[in-house]
Amino acid sequence: MAEPLKVGLAGLGTVGTAVVHLLQQGRDKLIARCGRPIEIAALSARSRGKKRGIDLKKFRWVADPVALARDPAIDVLVEVIGGAGDPARRAVETALRAGKPVVTANKALLARHGDQLAALAERHRVALNFEASVAGGIPIIKTLREGLNGSSFTRIYGILNGTCNYILSRMEQDRLAFADCLRNAQALGYAEADPSFDVEGHDTAQKLAILASLAFGTKVDPDAIYVEGISSITLADLDAAAELGYRVKLLGVAVRTEAGIEQRVHPTMVPKESAIAQVMGVTNAVTVDAEGLAPITLVGPGAGGMATASAVVSDLADIARGVCSPPFGRPADRMTAVRKAPMQRHEGGYYIRLLARDRPGSAATIARRLAQQQISIESIVQRHEVPPRGNGQSERSGEPVPVILITYATTEDAVRKALAAVRRDRVISGRPQVIRIEKN
Ligand SMILES: NC(=O)c1ccc[n+]([C@@H]2O[C@H](COP(=O)([O-])OP(=O)(O)OC[C@H]3O[C@@H](n4cnc5c(N)ncnc54)[C@H](OP(=O)(O)O)[C@@H]3O)[C@@H](O)[C@H]2O)c1
Repeated sequence: MAEPLKVGLAGLGTVGTAVVHLLQQGRDKLIARCGRPIEIAALSARSRGKKRGIDLKKFRWVADPVALARDPAIDVLVEVIGGAGDPARRAVETALRAGKPVVTANKALLARHGDQLAALAERHRVALNFEASVAGGIPIIKTLREGLNGSSFTRIYGILNGTCNYILSRMEQDRLAFADCLRNAQALGYAEADPSFDVEGHDTAQKLAILASLAFGTKVDPDAIYVEGISSITLADLDAAAELGYRVKLLGVAVRTEAGIEQRVHPTMVPKESAIAQVMGVTNAVTVDAEGLAPITLVGPGAGGMATASAVVSDLADIARGVCSPPFGRPADRMTAVRKAPMQRHEGGYYIRLLARDRPGSAATIARRLAQQQISIESIVQRHEVPPRGNGQSERSGEPVPVILITYATTEDAVRKALAAVRRDRVISGRPQVIRIEKN
């Protein structure tokens, strides 16, 4: 049998320990598929004494992940420490400079330094594989880089954060408020103690930056992404969406437009019958639109030790077979700077929920301000809250009246200008809620 591929594993948390289990359980299958064993030669993590459910005595321990990266006894580094800084970054760079391929699950590192690391891997003629960094167990990186590498992509969008999709699903199914669902997600271990990175859309943005680069051949640039999270979404929005034939999802969307590449993360209304609308709970999904091809949607587990480890091991299997693809599907010097389409020029339908002051002329003023920006209304729902009979109040209580508008395609700029004018006119209370609509 051919020589084993010797792995240095840096990081023994959720993903790292699952990689150890999967390599042990799948040993024979991997030999059959790759023609050689894949074996762990050495491990590294912060604390040697921690209980991890694996027999550490079987493996050599290297305290410093950077030393592990240059260790002559390893052929490949698996980096599952996380974070855009050191020691993850230095370990990855050290391995590549030493001519060792790298497998990583680290979206933060790739979103920040992806093009530079791709160039380094290319210079040293080694693989840099990162299937696990986006949508965990869903093989979307390979799909873009290899499976569809003859295609011309027009749009890629998806549910890339299981925590947000879990919260939105629970809100809808169990009629709970955002804060209750967030607490629930934290209790189940789906959300961090500080959930802002997930719920404010930044996790999705890092993943979208990687996908956009693969799809459009641009440098990885998370700063080119417009980001909005889900914390302002209410049950009233979900109910209104359902009534109008939509469901609300936090989507990451990258689209090729005439103005450049539009990259955005925000709560989005998607048609209820679309494939992406069916995806509930912590599950992830990615839809790819390419010229001459009906949309392709991949659905599956976006996180969790075993799902993520399956992507890591698949990347290792490629290396064991000698496969070395350019990390972002093209030579690093062919990755172009992102021509960023400004968000103001985004075109699409909008859901707008306003609290109109209950006084004569409010509705006419709102309609006039929208018309001034050439915004046409597809549907309008005005909800008068009718107090229970016999309480002595008139039917119109003087409270602001929720007004829900769905617009035909318009621009972000027009919507922002119209709503700013409506606020200046003082015909609404509070801030308008705006949710963009994504058609399939
Ligand atoms: N968890 C998922 O479902 C998932 C899904 C997709 C991608 N990922 C990505 O996979 C990577 C790992 O995630 P995870 O959930 O497995 O993280 P984790 O459970 O927090 O594990 C991190 C590991 O890195 C080690 N580590 C941290 N700082 C270190 C340092 N300075 N030196 C040496 N080792 C250090 C820790 O050591 P100790 O154990 O000794 O503290 C731990 O073993 C991240 O990039 C993450 O974004 C995770």
